[in-house]
Amino acid sequence: MSAPEVRTGLGWDVHRLAAGRPLILGGVAIAWDFGLEGHSDADILSHAITDALLGAAALGDIGMHFPDTDPRWKGADSAQFLAHAAALVRNAGYRIVNIDSTVILERPKLKDYRIAIRESLARTLGLDVERVSVKFKTAERVGPVGEGLSAEAQAIATIAR
Ligand code: C5P
Ligand code: MG
Repeated sequence: MSAPEVRTGLGWDVHRLAAGRPLILGGVAIAWDFGLEGHSDADILSHAITDALLGAAALGDIGMHFPDTDPRWKGADSAQFLAHAAALVRNAGYRIVNIDSTVILERPKLKDYRIAIRESLARTLGLDVERVSVKFKTAERVGPVGEGLSAEAQAIATIAR
C-alpha cells in the first residue's frame, strides 16, 4: 500500500467586538459583556477552522460556500459551516487527522473554556476530542486586538487519504 497523501490547510478570521453581542467560540457561548459582530453568529474560531479544512482539500473558502450576502446565513450557527466543510472534505475521500487553533482575544481569560470548546468542535466535526486543539493568546495590549476592538482566530487542519 502506498503512503497516504497528507495535506494541510490554513485558516484565519477576525471580527469586531461590540457590546451586547454574544461571544461564541467553537460553538460555546462565553459569558462576557462584549461579543463579536457579524452576519452569522461571528464565531471566529469555527470560521477559521472551516477555512483550514476547505483549504486542506483546495475546496475554496467559507465565503464561497456561505456568502455573507445570503439571507439564509444571517445569524447562522457557524457549526453548520464547520459540519458542511468536514462533510465536503470527507466526500473528497479524506479523513481529518487533526485540527490545531489559536484564539487571540485580550479578555476574558478563556482557558477554563478549553475543554468545552474542544468537545463542542469535536462533536461538530465528528472527531475524537484528542484530535482537536484550541489555544488562547492575548495581543499584549497592542494593536486592535490588544485594544479590545477585535478578536482573531487562526487554525491549521491536517487531512489524509
Ligand atoms: O497572551 P499570553 O501569552 O499572555 O497568554 C498566556 C496564557 O494565558 C495563554 O497560554 C493562555 O493559556 C491564557 N489565555 C487565556 N485567555 C486569553 C488569553 C490567554 O486563557 N484570552
Ligand atoms: Mg468570520
